Amino acid sequence: MPFSADGTQTMDLKNLLVTAADGVTTITINRPDKLNALNQATLAELDHVVGTTAQDPSTRVIVITGQGQKAFVAGADIKEINHLSPLKAHQFSQYGQQVMRRIERLDKPVIAMVNGFALGGGLELALACHLRLASDKAQLGLPEVKLGILPGFGGTQRLTRLIGRGQALSMMLTGEPVDAPTAASMGLVNQTVGAEALLETTMRLAAQLAQSAPAAMAGILEAAVLGEDMDLTSALSLETARFALACASEDMKEGTQAFLDKRAPQFTGN
Ligand code: COA
Repeated sequence: MPFSADGTQTMDLKNLLVTAADGVTTITINRPDKLNALNQATLAELDHVVGTTAQDPSTRVIVITGQGQKAFVAGADIKEINHLSPLKAHQFSQYGQQVMRRIERLDKPVIAMVNGFALGGGLELALACHLRLASDKAQLGLPEVKLGILPGFGGTQRLTRLIGRGQALSMMLTGEPVDAPTAASMGLVNQTVGAEALLETTMRLAAQLAQSAPAAMAGILEAAVLGEDMDLTSALSLETARFALACASEDMKEGTQAFLDKRAPQFTGN
């Protein structure tokens, strides 16, 4: 399937499905017979689609999910890992980290719709997303230790930051997955819903965010994501800069005026 969000670049996608409607672009990892495992080709496609979607002003929100009933993504492709030389392993990890970071650094919200197994690189992908909604059937874990390796797409850092070192080390050192309700209780997912309601719940959230003010969301994302790596004084400065920038938008005028007029705001993205 050719894909071009901005009309200037195309790539023939073999492992992803991409659909766009009403400001929401949905990226579906499409290797269900391999439980959507991330091989290098899929990773490259994801990198490309995320890059082009980032430039597409009509995309306000991105949803990432896996094809089929069983898996979000069951990890990096173990068949490929099995053959990696140390040098290639280094490149593979760095590239995976780069793709995850690109997702995390997007200035529009990315929702992981975790419809089943999110293991290894699959959980690392979900962790790079800004919000995670999970089916109550989902299982989430970083089982790399059972393969004699460790998470290499940012999992050691993002899981630890999200749920704390104690819980993260327990998950990573044992490699045991947690079920969705446990994941919710740890803060690993934002919400758990019945499998049959996952799509509707996710799309309702995506639609809500797609109506929101893009400059405000971009500011929140940058301050929260970059601020995590900063000392508090610098992070607060960043917050101030983004606050002031949002105040330069038409949407700021509309949002505040709508409150004063006691009506719902109509944000335009300007
Ligand atoms: N990489 C490559 N192939 C994978 C994969 C992965 N991470 N996860 C699943 N697959 C493939 C299986 O090899 C199998 O392919 P085959 O039909 O050609 O043999 C297919 O997907 C279905 O998986 P299967 O193991 O038969 O399903 P299951 O229901 O018995 O078990 C899991 C499901 C998720 C428990 C199991 O597939 C699993 O443990 N996967 C690996 C998880 C992992 O370690 N991820 C981290 C990788 S770094």
